[in-house]
Amino acid sequence: MSVPFVRSKVVENQQSLVIEKPFSGLSLNGKIQIPGDKSISHRALMLGALAQGETQIQGLLLGEDPRSTAECFRALGAEISPLNTELVTVQGIGLGNLLEPLDVLNAGNSGTTLRLMLGILASHSGSFFTVTGDSSLRSRPMSRVVKPLQEMGAKIWGRKDNSLAPLAVKGQQLTGIIYHSPIASAQVKSCILLAGLMAEGETTVIEPALSRDHSERMLQAFGAKLTVDPEQNSVTVFGGAKLQGQTVIVPGDISSAAFWLVAGAIVPGSELLVENVGVNPTRTGILEILEMMGADIQPENQRIVAGEPVADLRVKYSKLKSCEIAGNIIPRLIDEIPILAVAAVFAEGTTIIRNAEELRVKESDRLAVMASQLNKMGAKVTELPDGLEITGGTPLTGVELDSYTDHRIAMSLAIAALNAQGITTINRAEAAAISYPNFTSTLQEVCQSN
Ligand code: S3P
Repeated sequence: MSVPFVRSKVVENQQSLVIEKPFSGLSLNGKIQIPGDKSISHRALMLGALAQGETQIQGLLLGEDPRSTAECFRALGAEISPLNTELVTVQGIGLGNLLEPLDVLNAGNSGTTLRLMLGILASHSGSFFTVTGDSSLRSRPMSRVVKPLQEMGAKIWGRKDNSLAPLAVKGQQLTGIIYHSPIASAQVKSCILLAGLMAEGETTVIEPALSRDHSERMLQAFGAKLTVDPEQNSVTVFGGAKLQGQTVIVPGDISSAAFWLVAGAIVPGSELLVENVGVNPTRTGILEILEMMGADIQPENQRIVAGEPVADLRVKYSKLKSCEIAGNIIPRLIDEIPILAVAAVFAEGTTIIRNAEELRVKESDRLAVMASQLNKMGAKVTELPDGLEITGGTPLTGVELDSYTDHRIAMSLAIAALNAQGITTINRAEAAAISYPNFTSTLQEVCQSN
């Protein structure tokens, strides 16, 4: 039997993904079911824990990051069913009723878990909490949420002037503030809004550009009192409302769909139907940019599912051209920049990505890592302080690469490898399971040799 051209290699707990392009070439064809949206999954677990009564979650992402959230909120007293079925239930304990955990809360690799949870913990007066994460998360900046929480009256301590985990939190009665956030970040916005649920008075967050609005939508659905001013990118939550358990239907994650949209667009002869993709307008920057680059992506069966817009997306191979990615669109495609960099490598002309300095403080420094790994393959990528300059059209060669334990880097490099000559080995590829547990098996299923 011949060796499969997409295969996993495990050596001492470290998993590598090996992609060997057959001589005859390959193309991608078929239907793809993507995993549940990571942002919505975290929020459903958290609001379910803070609500009264039962929350039922359909289509929760069964990846490592939501598992970290579930573990933390179990330790805080919520009963959450095992994360191994299509339907997950949460028995909420009600706002203000979290138990003081007996041990450190561990958010693993998940920035969303840690930052959103800090808002919740800081406002639970009378209890003491300690929180930490893995080595990546312990090096990511927390002052962006610690400072506004302190303005609300929070008591938080940590390394490097309270800016790095592990952090200790003494829950307090907080007071609402008006916070002008210097960055467009849904994690910062959501942390402050969650703290505002139990604060005295009104809590307003004003962002420099619109970030994903899943917290606003879900808080309203759970019964929080909230007003949104889209002209000002401003959201206000009124303290004191009670949350009520709900049914949440989690759409597929557009950030996971993005790998297939780019793969289908760059690998000659491909046609993929990516089903059940969440197309909330605060997340669809990737679709606008791929359209500008000349990709052939058609939405089908557009619908609203439990308050979130959803569509199936059909992508076919087409020749891409370069474009500029900068300004207010950045927060609407922040997690898709690594895979857009891959698209740019196969586009004609020079693509410029700017205003994306936030990528330096994600699960890895995504600007540095994408530049170094794509250049190893023969691409022409220059790192800018806040972005990348990518000249497309140079042929790529398979080499040994590293994910830097970053899920989106592992998957982006796997897609780049589909168009590289020879064998590409991506080390530490198990990181993909943070947001996409079945990535490798789906890749095996849709790849066909010509
Ligand atoms: C997220 C917000 C974004 C995004 C992250 C998930 C969220 O982070 O990169 O993957 O669920 O709120 P920032 O808010 O730090 O930009």
